[in-house]
Amino acid sequence: MEVLIYDNYDAMCAAAAAAVVETLNAKPNAVLGMATGSTPLGVYRELVRLHREEGLDFSQVTTFNLDEYVGLGPNHPQSYHRFMREHFFDHVNIPPQNVYIPHGTTSNAPAFCDWYEQRIKDCGGIDLQILGIGTDGHIAFNEPTSSLGSRTRIKTLAKQTIDDNARFFDNRDDVPKYAITMGVGTILEARQIALLADGSKKAAAIASAVEGPITSMITASALQWHANTQVYVDTAAAGALTMTDYYRWIQDHKPGAP
Ligand code: F6R
Repeated sequence: MEVLIYDNYDAMCAAAAAAVVETLNAKPNAVLGMATGSTPLGVYRELVRLHREEGLDFSQVTTFNLDEYVGLGPNHPQSYHRFMREHFFDHVNIPPQNVYIPHGTTSNAPAFCDWYEQRIKDCGGIDLQILGIGTDGHIAFNEPTSSLGSRTRIKTLAKQTIDDNARFFDNRDDVPKYAITMGVGTILEARQIALLADGSKKAAAIASAVEGPITSMITASALQWHANTQVYVDTAAAGALTMTDYYRWIQDHKPGAP
């Protein structure tokens, strides 16, 4: 994994947005994997700004979101459908028919999950997948002990995740207990992965994911198998890494760097 450390959240998000731009420049009809939660908000803000001010074009782009809460319809204020519209899709020119987000109210989850996997394949696979990380080391909603070969399915949320996400709901009891989520195996098939984390609350998870053993206890550690993953962190989220001098050295001495 390539660890990229930035002085603050905005710089980290600008760098991740630049990776999206690079992908779109190389392939205007790229397939992007999208994440929700607090972490990628700055990336979406920057991409919206680039669309408005510099004409960044999403007209040929297709997107697949990682996950959705089971039981929340697309207009529920805490649904990830709504989150994505509010923070991104309503502000850029991605054709609505090119947007895929798991359906939290599907009546046949296994069939839906198979269809979702097949749609990803039929669209040519994900070119760049954006990821956040949970404090328990999850990617998407692949909670500790999820199979590292898992595919899109219903997953029971861990207590830690319910506690962490209670901030978005009026009551902790309102947080759904299940989500439909891409699996670790699904995510590992993306051609490029950008894992983002900011703040000291994520420091332990990032250190385990990057420097710990590959283990289903920290599903983000499976990214060590992935040949093209960049880890974007601010200094606080990098706080528990032991090799930061080395990562900074690599960052400053990339071939072609000024
Ligand atoms: C969201 C997702 C989750 C979050 C993670 C971090 O689509 O898949 O894995 O990325 O829970 O959430 P935040 O960014 O809110 O700390």
